[in-house]
Amino acid sequence: MTKTLLSGMRPTGRLHLGHYSVVENWIELQKEYQCYYFIADWHAVSTAFDDTATIRANSRELTIDWLSAGLSPDRGAIFRQSDVKEHAELHLLFSMITPLSWLERVPTYKDQIVQFGAQGKDIATYGFLGYPLLQAADILVYRAFGVPVGEDQIPHIELTREVARRFNHMYKTDVFPEPQALMPKIKNLPGIDNRKMSKSYANDISLSATEGEVKARVQQMVTDPARIHKTDPGHPDICTVHTYHGFYNQEAQGSIAEACKKGEIGCGECKKCLTAKLNEFLAPIRERRQELETIPGLVEDILAEGASKARMAASETMARVREAMKI
Ligand code: TRP
Ligand code: SF4
Repeated sequence: MTKTLLSGMRPTGRLHLGHYSVVENWIELQKEYQCYYFIADWHAVSTAFDDTATIRANSRELTIDWLSAGLSPDRGAIFRQSDVKEHAELHLLFSMITPLSWLERVPTYKDQIVQFGAQGKDIATYGFLGYPLLQAADILVYRAFGVPVGEDQIPHIELTREVARRFNHMYKTDVFPEPQALMPKIKNLPGIDNRKMSKSYANDISLSATEGEVKARVQQMVTDPARIHKTDPGHPDICTVHTYHGFYNQEAQGSIAEACKKGEIGCGECKKCLTAKLNEFLAPIRERRQELETIPGLVEDILAEGASKARMAASETMARVREAMKI
């Protein structure tokens, strides 16, 4: 039997090129595993409960980003968490057996309350305390063996394993396997100012950027500040454009760097070359996006089909859970 993987993302807006390598890894995993990938819209509510108006539209955008990047709905399921109510049922049942102290000691819990508090927002709600347990339910409802996540999510996977053990022990069952965190090697693409790429720094390049937007973003990229004339010898190792060539124009990165060091290529020409490569990379993604955005009901149909597949797997688990708990 093919093993099942699960991962999710919060719908917080359009993906950028920095996120792409996460999705690329998800696509790679689809070759080998049955993959459940879901939009964590209930998770989004745990911190954005006072501003839910964008969640539905963002969920649609995220679906389009995933599909246009090449994620396949046929190698598992792509769905929205809130369409599969079994996540909520399992979360509720887990909440009955999980000691409060387990949730209070999740490292992000107090940190995030302080962070949001500094912005004048109180997120010390019942739901926010419980969101790692909702994550445990997300994973265990599919009895997933593995969860591809970033390092920041490790404490949540650890909690998931503890909850699985406690449930199995308490109800003398083996319904839940203990999932493993699969930490992919994620390539870190910097933002156009060479800091970490993030929407909040306004240094990102969106996966849905138009040709013109890509051109403008590359134009704004920071280069070797010591270079004023084309003939000035450059230092590609401190130049963001050079880093990007390594990602999107690997064959030519070395020769461009040599030309830069010798003062034989100007930054304008170097950026033009990168712009062309980036646009070449984004062209098929744009094409798929166009189709997804313009065919009425296409995205909705994919999500509905994904939810129905997911529900099938989840309801099987829930039948076993109710049986084990005798309810
Ligand atoms: N908490 C994850 C995040 O913020 C998203 C998430 C929710 C998730 N449920 C999950 C990831 C289950 C993996 C598995 O990124
Ligand atoms: Fe950077 Fe290219 Fe200019 Fe060299 S020529 S400093 S690599 S942009």
